[in-house]
Amino acid sequence: MTIISKLAIAASLVTALTSVSFAQENLKGLTIGFSQIGSESGWRAAETSVTKQQAEALGIDLKFADAQQKQENQIKAIRGFIAQGVDAILVAPVVATGWEDVLSEAKEAEIPVMLLDRGVDAPEDLYLTSVASDQVLEGRVAGDWLVAEVGDADCKVVELQGTVGSTPAINRKQGFEEAIAGHANIVIARSQTGDFTRAKGKEVMEGFIKAENGGADICAVYAHNDDMAVGAIQAIKDAGLKPGTDIKVVSIDGVPDIFAAMAAGEANATVELTPNMAGPAFAALSAYLADGTEPEKFIITESKLYTPADNPQGEYDTRKGLGY
Ligand code: AHR
Repeated sequence: MTIISKLAIAASLVTALTSVSFAQENLKGLTIGFSQIGSESGWRAAETSVTKQQAEALGIDLKFADAQQKQENQIKAIRGFIAQGVDAILVAPVVATGWEDVLSEAKEAEIPVMLLDRGVDAPEDLYLTSVASDQVLEGRVAGDWLVAEVGDADCKVVELQGTVGSTPAINRKQGFEEAIAGHANIVIARSQTGDFTRAKGKEVMEGFIKAENGGADICAVYAHNDDMAVGAIQAIKDAGLKPGTDIKVVSIDGVPDIFAAMAAGEANATVELTPNMAGPAFAALSAYLADGTEPEKFIITESKLYTPADNPQGEYDTRKGLGY
């Protein structure tokens, strides 16, 4: 690829991630609280920076609260936003359950709440909209890729799950299992949480390798996010095996480091998740405040599969430096 086309792709990706519609003038001067889960993954760091950029471009005063992976911190932050009388609240909910009371308090205070990237088990009238991917589909796309990749060969899979009780962990597991159902040659031999972090992904993968004949019996690792996959790749290398060849690696997110691993032949497939969840949420809020337009309850982002055939080095170059 020429430097000109690389720059053109980089420019369009920056625009896609950070562009805002200046029709959203009515958001200027609003105060919006953002309760973020933490910074467990490269993807989450990118979501935080895209959200801050979007808010700045729209003239929103964004109050940011990092919950350090704890739901109790998120609930405290949301109560603080309500007490301050913010105009709206963004929440990326760490787990699915336990939100009904605090969301009811926001509703009572007439503060619209928008969910980002994860869902909740709570009545739908407690939030304005939820911007997220179809996480079951993400798991299915990853599983379909493996089914096509191994054909009739026997394949023992180890699974690195995301945070226990979070919707991406629940749904990505379900989608993958649906994809491999009916393919008796593919079995999930071991499955454990790596909490969406690189360090935990590595640690859990080391245990899987030990338990599975030094890794010789493992055909593939399915990680619910790229960061855990990157940790697993390190564990595979430390065990003297070749990631991407001896053990296939399939995961979800599309962060720069997984494309670097793919370019080096150490990862086989990833399903992209855009970090721009705030853009659609702000657009929905703008229309709602303008004339009461009720947005779609679920705004679904795209889930695209990338493999080594998709110029991973180019994907790395265009994403690196975008807040990941
Ligand atoms: O909810 C989205 C998931 O959360 C991303 O896949 C993962 O990287 C993050 O931590």
